[in-house]
Amino acid sequence: MDRKKVTIADLFEKKREGKKITMMTAYDYPTAVLVDQAGIDTILVGDSLAMVMLGYESTVPVTMDEMIHHCKAVYRGAKYGFILGDMPFMSYQVSIEKAVENAGRFIKEAVCDSVKLEGGSEMAPVAEAIVKAGIPVCAHIGLTPQTATMLSGFKVQGKDAESARELVTAAKDFEAAGCFMIVMECIPDLLAERITQELTIPTIGIGAGKDCDGQVLVYHDLVGLFDRFTPKFVKQYVDLSPQIVDALVQYKKEVEEGSFPGPEHSFAMKAEEAEKL
Ligand code: KIV
Repeated sequence: MDRKKVTIADLFEKKREGKKITMMTAYDYPTAVLVDQAGIDTILVGDSLAMVMLGYESTVPVTMDEMIHHCKAVYRGAKYGFILGDMPFMSYQVSIEKAVENAGRFIKEAVCDSVKLEGGSEMAPVAEAIVKAGIPVCAHIGLTPQTATMLSGFKVQGKDAESARELVTAAKDFEAAGCFMIVMECIPDLLAERITQELTIPTIGIGAGKDCDGQVLVYHDLVGLFDRFTPKFVKQYVDLSPQIVDALVQYKKEVEEGSFPGPEHSFAMKAEEAEKL
């Protein structure tokens, strides 16, 4: 069957038909190739790259230029997945003009299909302005890591009725603003189910239970390449780190003992040329 690039219409159709949408983060060319090969619907170049790729303590320090650099690499690797570029902290909060300009960079320079931004109802006008500029926007509600300090840390959001209602309102505001999708992070599963039922746009959960329209995980968590901390919602499908360390230790040993490179990895010279050396 001819494989086509995933579109927003495909994502809406999946929601309508009750088929789950898959999303995975990728930050570089080889990972994008693998995620695409796995047939994942959507690829998020998340600002989580600040932590899992660049070693920062949080997502806050990553810059627009760094995000664009990684998005470009993902674009070169992903032929089918629908790509979302994550707008970094302070690239959309200062002014609506700046937000639209920065969102535009994800589309023009990095060839992303859309952008994602974090926040509550207060960010709906920003999302609306970006959408009006012709750029698809995915909102990210609940635990919003860029502003985790304001939330007093990395905690489950919407646990009481009042804050849950605020999240329902935020989700509806983003839908009314024209967002095509909403990521919901770390909220009770019942609340995520309610929001999913009340919206016509797809919802993607991370720590939001199984009743969202789709799920996202951070690639490095899923394959065991990030061990600084593991949130409860993470499922590690494979533990690559020890396998990679084993390979590196083996390489070191073979270089040190002189068994690598062998003749099969080396280039011979014709005898008559060698004589002239
Ligand atoms: O940056 C990211 O990877 C994210 C996901 C956790 C949704 O925003």
